[in-house]
Amino acid sequence: MNQCDDSFALVDALLADRTNLLEHRPTLCMEVGCGSGYVITSLALMLGQEAYGAYYIATDINPHAVRVTSETLQAHGVYADLITTEIASGLEKRLEGLVDVMVVNPPYVPTPEDEVGREGIASAWAGGENGRSVIDKILPIADKLMSDRGWLYMVTLTANNPSEICLQMREKGYASRIVVQRSTEEESLHVIKFWRDFDSQPVGNEMGTVNKIVPAGVIESLLSQVPGLSFWRYGNSNSR
Ligand SMILES: C[S@@+](CC[C@H](N)C(=O)[O-])C[C@H]1O[C@@H](n2cnc3c(N)ncnc32)[C@H](O)[C@@H]1O
Repeated sequence: MNQCDDSFALVDALLADRTNLLEHRPTLCMEVGCGSGYVITSLALMLGQEAYGAYYIATDINPHAVRVTSETLQAHGVYADLITTEIASGLEKRLEGLVDVMVVNPPYVPTPEDEVGREGIASAWAGGENGRSVIDKILPIADKLMSDRGWLYMVTLTANNPSEICLQMREKGYASRIVVQRSTEEESLHVIKFWRDFDSQPVGNEMGTVNKIVPAGVIESLLSQVPGLSFWRYGNSNSR
């Protein structure tokens, strides 16, 4: 996968679910691992700020990423509280049970375990064994921080064993579905949405319901519906 494909896939998943998100009227949206700021900025642009009273917060372990995110937000006239921290360390008490929408494009690439959490750019992708080291730390924290109506959108690769992730979340009471799926010859990337399903029973060993994968062609028209959202995608002075 190209470095940007995962970020685009996550934003495409949010766009594809935008009508539901607008109806959901999230009060607090959070991104863990904000990197360039593309995802949290896009979310704020697509949901609006004043109109819906939504509040945005983003964290990254890399202080450089937090600085870049700040510039990206500013360049697009939106605001988020930014914190340099490991996942949500130091925020758990303040945010427990409050996050209505959480978005995560974690470091998911399988690597030797000692590459995980290293300073610098390696933290953007190094995911340890099966690419699961950081993902497995994020999931219980997401469960703690999300409100009863919390939705989690997370990027995973096939190598991360997404079925097992869905099963693990199901045991915590979450339903799931794949919102976006992108494949190359070597890999398949999924954006999975999780939400609390108070009626669900933990059964089976299958990936959550796959009921609405959005065709890539639809995304362009969705992008055009949100002013300012095509930044990066179709050439921009901030291109990376
Ligand atoms: C795959 S990049 C995603 C960047 C950005 N969200 C995007 O989609 O463009 C993963 C990001 O997670 C950050 N990260 C890695 N480990 C982390 C941790 N333990 N806590 C917080 N952020 C972390 C990295 O610094 C990097 O910015």
